[in-house]
Amino acid sequence: MTAELARIAEAMVADGKGILAADESSGTIKKRFDSIGAESTEDNRRDYREMLFRSTEAMKSYISGVILFDETLRQNAKDGTPLARIIADTGAIPGIKADAGAKDLASCPGEKVTEGLDGLRERFAEYYELGARFAKWRAVITIGDHIPSRGCIEANAHALARYAALAQEANIVPIVEPEVLMDGPHDIERCFAVTEATLNTVYDALFAQRVVLEGTILKPNMVLSGSECQTQAGVEQVAEETVRCFKRTVPAAVPGICFLSGGQSDENATAHLSAMNAMFDPPWKLSFSYGRALQAAPLKAWGGKAENEAAAQAAFAHRARMNGLAAMGQWNTGLEKAA
Ligand code: 13P
Repeated sequence: MTAELARIAEAMVADGKGILAADESSGTIKKRFDSIGAESTEDNRRDYREMLFRSTEAMKSYISGVILFDETLRQNAKDGTPLARIIADTGAIPGIKADAGAKDLASCPGEKVTEGLDGLRERFAEYYELGARFAKWRAVITIGDHIPSRGCIEANAHALARYAALAQEANIVPIVEPEVLMDGPHDIERCFAVTEATLNTVYDALFAQRVVLEGTILKPNMVLSGSECQTQAGVEQVAEETVRCFKRTVPAAVPGICFLSGGQSDENATAHLSAMNAMFDPPWKLSFSYGRALQAAPLKAWGGKAENEAAAQAAFAHRARMNGLAAMGQWNTGLEKAA
């Protein structure tokens, strides 16, 4: 079991490839569709996602895996082919969002805890049958006055570890995603301290639940200035602080770290990843698991209209290629302008 999990985890961070996070929940995809004036119907969601997954060249060259929402893993393309099959035919691995969302944490105002452990063993058995070979669980840590609390970090770390152990039991690689949000006026030092405390607590919990690290992928935030901070750290500083933080906290047995984009601009998400890979030679692969930073451009180009599909696929292919290069430390601004 361990060897198979490690094999899948390594394939998820193959050279020059990363993960497409297309697992927006019903509420989130509605927000995305609202932004382009499209209605969030089951058919529209299928058409949009099918368009991405049928960007065959980009998928084959730069995408190692796709995270799906429950609906999408069960959905067929217009011609009746399961969407998971279309993904697998490009060589990418289908994955599944396994959590049930972040809910208010009782007695901790302003903080969240992720739910979804009840019945998870049975759901994992079904997801495996449907073709999922990895999963994701997102925990949310908020920075603010006097938060995060110890209770919030510990509750989320414990849930992540319980989820990861259940995933591995089902032969599914867990993506462990503790996201320290970038919202707020805090500086990069505060983000570093909170990310460090969070990752220490998460790896402690994973150890307690006997999770085999070789068969996991970490999906963290980068260490950044808060989005409303007056002084924004530059690309090199973000790369340095992020790698410094992870060297302290993430064991070398973890095969790969696939960042979330978390609200960074498309180009910043790419630039930060490329700088880390160009400047450092860390013990884990550093790649991407972007939602917005891969999809914002194609979503806009698509605009909910079938006649824009080719333009949307071109926009997706471009961002996928830029991030594939960044995963090798080979991206530069000139490549954006050339396109
Ligand atoms: P973003 O890259 O848009 O943050 O989404 C990634 C993701 O899957 C968040 O859970």
